[in-house]
This record gives sequence, C-alpha cells and structure tokens, in this order.
Amino acid sequence: MGFELREIHKHFGSVRANNGVNLSVASGELHGLLGENGAGKSTLMKVLSGFHQKTSGEILVDGESIDLRSPADAIEHGIGMLHQDPLVFLPFTVLDNFLIGSPGPERLNRRAAARELATLADRFGFSFDPDTPTRRLTVGERQQLEILRLLWLGARVLILDEPTTGISAPQRLKLFATLKELAAEGMSVVFVSHKLEEVEEICERVTIIRAGTVVGERDLPCPAAELVELMFGGEVEIGERPVVGLGPPRLTVSDLTVRDRMLSVEGFNLEVAEGEVIGFAGLEGSGQRIVLDALSGLRSANGGTITVNGRDLTKVGYRGYLDGGVQFLPAGRLEEGLVAGLTLTEHFVLSSRSGAFLIDWEGALAETVEGIAEYSVKGTPDSTAESLSGGNQQRLLLAMLQDNLEVLLMEHPTRGLDIESAAWVWEQLLRRREDGTAIVFASADLDELLEYSDRILVFFAGGVLAEVDARTSSVDELGHLIGGKVTS
Ligand SMILES: Nc1ncnc2c1ncn2[C@@H]1O[C@H](COP(=O)(O)OP(=O)(O)OP(=O)(O)O)[C@@H](O)[C@H]1O
Ligand SMILES: [Mg+2]
Repeated sequence: MGFELREIHKHFGSVRANNGVNLSVASGELHGLLGENGAGKSTLMKVLSGFHQKTSGEILVDGESIDLRSPADAIEHGIGMLHQDPLVFLPFTVLDNFLIGSPGPERLNRRAAARELATLADRFGFSFDPDTPTRRLTVGERQQLEILRLLWLGARVLILDEPTTGISAPQRLKLFATLKELAAEGMSVVFVSHKLEEVEEICERVTIIRAGTVVGERDLPCPAAELVELMFGGEVEIGERPVVGLGPPRLTVSDLTVRDRMLSVEGFNLEVAEGEVIGFAGLEGSGQRIVLDALSGLRSANGGTITVNGRDLTKVGYRGYLDGGVQFLPAGRLEEGLVAGLTLTEHFVLSSRSGAFLIDWEGALAETVEGIAEYSVKGTPDSTAESLSGGNQQRLLLAMLQDNLEVLLMEHPTRGLDIESAAWVWEQLLRRREDGTAIVFASADLDELLEYSDRILVFFAGGVLAEVDARTSSVDELGHLIGGKVTS
C-alpha cells in the first residue's frame, strides 16, 4: 500500500524532535532511515504508528489522509511498529503476548490462536512454546514474536526501530530474510538504524535525518562516506585504542557451575587481569548471559568460586558484589536498567551507593548534572528515562556506573549507539582500565569484540568452545566458532 508523511512536526515542549519531515515509501519497498542518536528517528516512527500525536503535518496511506490517535488506530490502517526496546508484557506467556490487541472473539479462542502462532512461526523459521513466560525469551525472540503479532493483526507497513541491536548474527540473518520476503509480498518496510552496512545490505533506498529534518535521500548502493557525512555533518574520527599493561589477576573464576531452566554452564574457569578486557562471543542463550549474571551476583552459583582481588564473593549476593566493586550493565535498557517514569535525578539517587537513610537530593542533582555533561546525555535532570532517545538512554546507564570499579560487566554495551557515540563510549570505558578495572563484556557485534577485547571466549551450547586472541582473530573465524564449527 505504501505511505507518505508530509511536513511532520513533533514538538515536546521546546524540543523539536521532528521539524517538517517528508518521507514516502512505496508498497514492496525496503526503506532505510538513518541518523545519529537523538536525530528524531524513533519519534517520527512513533508518529507514523500512532504512539505519538503529531504536532502538525499529514499522514497518507494509499494516497488517503488518515488521522491516528492510538497504536490501535494505526494497526487498523495496517501500520505496525517494532520498538527499539521491544514492548513485551513480561510477566505473561508467549501466547498472551501474541494475543495482545487481537480483536473480539479470537481473543478467547486460545487454541486457535496458538495454532495460528505456530503456523506463522513456521513460515519464517521461528519457533515458540506458547506457554513460556516471555521474560525467558532472548531479545531476538521477543522481536520475532512481536513481528508475528503485528503480521497477525494485519500490518502492511512494518516499522522496525533498531531491530538488530542485541540480537545474534544468525537471528539477524533470519530477520533480514523475513523482511525481504515481506517486501517481496508487497509490504512497505521501514528499517531504522545507525548501522550503515545493514541498511546497505537490505534497503533499496535510504532517508537520512539530522536534528529533526531530512538532510538527504539516496538510492542504494551509495558510497558510505557520503552517508556518514550526511548523518553527522562531517567526517567521523575514531580514537586510537590506549595501550595499558596488564596487572595481577583481578577476577578469578574457578570451576563455576550455573544453571538456568534451559541451560547449564559447568566447570567454567576464567582469570581476568587488572586492566584486561575479555569479550564473550556466542549466539544468544549459549551461556554467556548466565555467566555474567553469576559474576554480578544476580544469579547464585550452583558450584565453584568467584573471587575479586582474592576475596571470595561467591555467596555474598547482588549487594555484596556491588559493595565489592563489581557492577553489571545489562542489555535491556528500560526493563532491567532504567525505570520508566523516573527522572534522571531519581535514577542517580537509586544508583548511588551511599546507603544513607535520608536522600541527599542536592548531592544527587549535582551528580546528575555532572553525569549528563560528562556523557553528553541529551536531556535534563527532570527528563524521564523514557523521554530520552535510545542512544541517550544507553549513555545514561553508562553515566550511572560507579567510579573505580574493580570489575565491570556489560552486555551489548554500545547497543543503540551511533558509530561516533560508540567509539566515544569505548574510549571512556577503556579509560577505566588505567584504574585497573577488569572488563568483561558480551556482544553480538563481532567487530566490537575484535576491536576492544584482549581475549575473546566463544560460548557454544553452555560451554566455552574456544578462546582466541582478539588481535589475531577475524570476523570469519569468530563467525565459524560461534556456529559451533572449529576449524584447523
Ligand atoms: N517523550 C519525549 N519527551 C520529551 N522529549 C522527547 C521524547 N521523546 C523523544 N524526545 C526527544 O526528541 C529527540 C529525538 O529523539 P528520538 O528518540 O526520536 O531520537 P532517535 O533518532 O531515535 O535517536 P537514537 O538513535 O538515540 O534512538 C531527543 O532530543 C529526545 O530527547
Ligand atoms: Mg531511537
């Protein structure tokens, strides 16, 4: 069917998130939307999908002007959006989530819906147990479920906001194949991203927005340098990686066993030196997340020991790890790290380690102002977490990390950040190595793993399949290992 946006304005108070945007996407077209953090991409797509009311402008579907007052209105016009942080109702099961928004009696017929879900899933090579609680699903699986739900509700325009951050490489391939198939059937697909190579891989045409307005539209392929210039208004400089000598062991893990309902990791060993950076590679659900959970005290170990600077932390619990200088930055921003509705200052209060009975609001405000400045978060101390753009939410999480950490654990640390921000964030993170902080991070981005780790552990089916030197390994080698293939 195709749609057209004419002169869309969306203002939040004095913030002009969209400032007269024009965009049209035909039926069967895979269209990319590029722009740096805070450019206004998510806002525009939320206007198109009924989550935000436009301040002014016009939305046309099939050449007809429509008025959208809610996401339900939008889906009735065939417009569905997959959010940057998948909006799944976590306490419920897969089937409950699939049924959300479905009209009338079908809602009651759970068996028919379960069959429908299975058929749709089958078509795209996904698989779901309808009775699994959705909180057990990986980010990639939540996304697959959300796509199926939107298709079931009749979406003909599908919007995906940063869909590849936090999903594994095979899940990404599957997603891309699905999108191509949907476009071939006449669906209009909008793919929002900062990752040029992904947009180049699947889109035919791309629109670039900067500071709320369209600064260019190009057919693909188009030289990457030209797109980067349009996105940032200049060339991007990527800093050099500082060289830090490795010190004595900071984190020692011996014979760790952790079990989850689905998976267990047995006999895991790791020694991380002061200032060392260890990358965890692997498909989602291969064991890296439950090991990170155990190393941060979020999940108790079923066996083995975890020591930091020679102190045994195995049984101290989450608070004990925090007190021991171990902090974990998880991947799901709004569900694990940030609280919707709370302001930035309130977040700093929550994250402060003072343990005092009375809240020091003045101190917290000062800390917030400092954090905002240091991490260039686009927002004010009174902004709520959900009013920040995705990239700025990630910056907020990074700004809230304690100083002088002994061990910093992270999952997809630059998820949702544009290239310039990601390079800058890593510069800040690596600077912590000068204090001897040991860093362990999991990422789905092979380039990121190779670029910033010293050593990379590749997880496969709950075990460490291989350990490689990041300086001599390659995307190719890692890709094979992640799939469980050991060559040579
Ligand atoms: N609900 C809101 N209230 C106030 N300001 C908002 C709200 N939502 C977005 N903004 C502001 O609008 C601007 C554009 O944000 P938007 O989320 O559209 O950016 P984006 O291009 O998606 O960025 P990112 O790549 O970081 O996700 C930002 O300055 C953001 O803080
Ligand atoms: Mg966004």
